[in-house]
Amino acid sequence: MNIRMKYKLFPVLLILAALLSGCQDTTRPEDEANAVVVGFSQLGSESAWRIGNTASMEKAAQSHGYGLMLDNANQKQEKQISAIRSFIAYQVDVIVVSPIVEKGWDNVLTEARQAGIPVILMDRMVDVKDDGLYTAYIGADFLEEGRRAGEYLLKKAEAINAEHLRVVEISGTLDSTPMRERQQGFMEIIGDDPRFELLESVSGDFLRSKGAECMRKLLQKYGSTGIDVIYSHNDAMTLGALDVLESAGVKPGKDVVLISVDGEQAAVDALKAGKINCIVECTPDLGEQVMDLVGALTRGETIPKASHPKETAFTEFDDLSGLGPRGY
Ligand code: AHR
Repeated sequence: MNIRMKYKLFPVLLILAALLSGCQDTTRPEDEANAVVVGFSQLGSESAWRIGNTASMEKAAQSHGYGLMLDNANQKQEKQISAIRSFIAYQVDVIVVSPIVEKGWDNVLTEARQAGIPVILMDRMVDVKDDGLYTAYIGADFLEEGRRAGEYLLKKAEAINAEHLRVVEISGTLDSTPMRERQQGFMEIIGDDPRFELLESVSGDFLRSKGAECMRKLLQKYGSTGIDVIYSHNDAMTLGALDVLESAGVKPGKDVVLISVDGEQAAVDALKAGKINCIVECTPDLGEQVMDLVGALTRGETIPKASHPKETAFTEFDDLSGLGPRGY
């Protein structure tokens, strides 16, 4: 970061604080006029994935020399909407938003369009009447992630000659893109196969504490031998469930098959220790690609409507010795 930019970031942060606390000075100062300023509405900090994603955005903004107005909405859509309104008032160059749920964005995105500010959706999608309300989406192909989880389970069932497996799903935040598509992709693969019985799907909101709470209730309902497979939509919930299973004397990875999504360090360690059977990768490291798109937009270039990072799955059937530090 050059010194000019470094000093430019202080007013950006101060003004953001003022805007978000309801003060009325919404004008972009003269000395900000030439710097590229990105308004970023992050949905929260519910998981190691999310914290890694925020760090990736901050690092990339810095390496590109862009000012970043970051607002963390703490899992509240209303907070995201008011942050976006503040970014519009400030006249940022580009708005980046990671929307907590898919619906409810038409009005605020219309306001951004009327103000002529492009919007990049990062990590999660919106369900709006007009796709022209956002400029681009960059994030995982969640449908493919769900399919990868299902494909692992098919392979596992073959390997152990299973005739009947009782499956529970601990899903992410209801009505969010990863929740909806990870479920859809998984069911596409196993839904019509008579070997699999989906006992139920419960939501753990992508939180470790709720993953543990769901697991406690599931154990009360089905007992310690009543569940064969747990498909959990992220590592945070998986790790919470894993703790509860171990406290109940159930061996995760052996007595119960555990399928997770993300690939954070603690989960990869558990996979290597045989306590998780499969992790479908979802990378939080999207910052560089987002800032490249911001750069292209500010140069007046056309950018792709949707792009996905390359991802894979890590399973008990793979050689994991070459899997290095995850960084989140
Ligand atoms: O939207 C991506 C999901 O959100 C990640 O899988 C999860 O860990 C995060 O909270």
